[in-house]
Amino acid sequence: MERELSLEFVRVTEAAALASGRLMGRGDKEAADQAAVDAMRSVFDTVHIDGTVVIGEGEKDEAPMLYTGEKVGVGKEPRVDVAVDPLEGTNLVAKGLPNALSVVAIAPEGCLLKAADVFYMDKIAVGPKARGCIDINASVSENLKAVAKAMDRDVRDLTAIILERPRHEDLIAEIRESGARVKLITDGDVSAAIATSIDTSGVDILFGIGGAPEGVISAVALKILGGDMQCRLVPKGKDKTVEDDSKDERFKKVLMLDDLAMGEDLFFAATGITDGDMLNGVRYSGKSAETHSLVMRGTTRTIRNIRATHRLERKPKFVSEEASCRVK
Ligand code: FBP
Repeated sequence: MERELSLEFVRVTEAAALASGRLMGRGDKEAADQAAVDAMRSVFDTVHIDGTVVIGEGEKDEAPMLYTGEKVGVGKEPRVDVAVDPLEGTNLVAKGLPNALSVVAIAPEGCLLKAADVFYMDKIAVGPKARGCIDINASVSENLKAVAKAMDRDVRDLTAIILERPRHEDLIAEIRESGARVKLITDGDVSAAIATSIDTSGVDILFGIGGAPEGVISAVALKILGGDMQCRLVPKGKDKTVEDDSKDERFKKVLMLDDLAMGEDLFFAATGITDGDMLNGVRYSGKSAETHSLVMRGTTRTIRNIRATHRLERKPKFVSEEASCRVK
């Protein structure tokens, strides 16, 4: 994929962030998500790819746009797999809490894991210093010891990040028992996974079950950042403990980074919607708005921070209707 696509992908996440950020704190996660989806979908129509959504908003009958299997882009080469999360952290935007993002991850056709029918994934993720040291089949304490050794630290100096869910009660107890520090989050395990690979984040390891789509998207970012991740698909609905499904081999396989996102020709773009550890949220000021994005390219591992000022009256309607409601 040509490097110029970086900017095109950022435009896609910027549009979604501009549209949904306006709805921060309104308590309406569906409206915020819809605004993000509409804006992202429209900008994808201008991107020079022949893309197929492999991680999207759901199946066609439940998602009118950006559904799994939908074609996006102007329809010219390159043929690519597209993973989208127009609004990662719907509750975070609805409540005005930190770390809501708009994200896309792109890979050549056939290179992203297709698990559209699976809701959840068990995950463990670390940054570059602990690459190669994690084992999803080992205990929490063994993993923490291995990571501490690789990072030349004591286990009690490590910070583990984990979604605060009833299904994680035992896991959280185990981490605490090991002596590591714990950061509980209400939502948003994509930014949590990425935080393990950002030196200044103060986060060293992610544990726990989160969305399967979010797992694939995180894997693309971690691969480019040089971090590591292991996952296992989880055959269950909301907030239940893991149930062994001995009939389906898919739920036994340990998914390594290369199983989630194959090769190096990868792109990841994210724009902050609410303020976060990694990205600022959208700032609106009269006729303009500022966005903060990150775009990364796997081939060169270049990471770009992009701060953009948008003249809202010049934006297309799909962005400006929500994003520029003050503009006359
Ligand atoms: P949404 O943006 O779809 O609301 O997802 C937020 C999120 O916290 C993800 O970051 C995470 O992977 C998933 O939900 C966890 O699912 P659940 O809330 O069902 O535990």
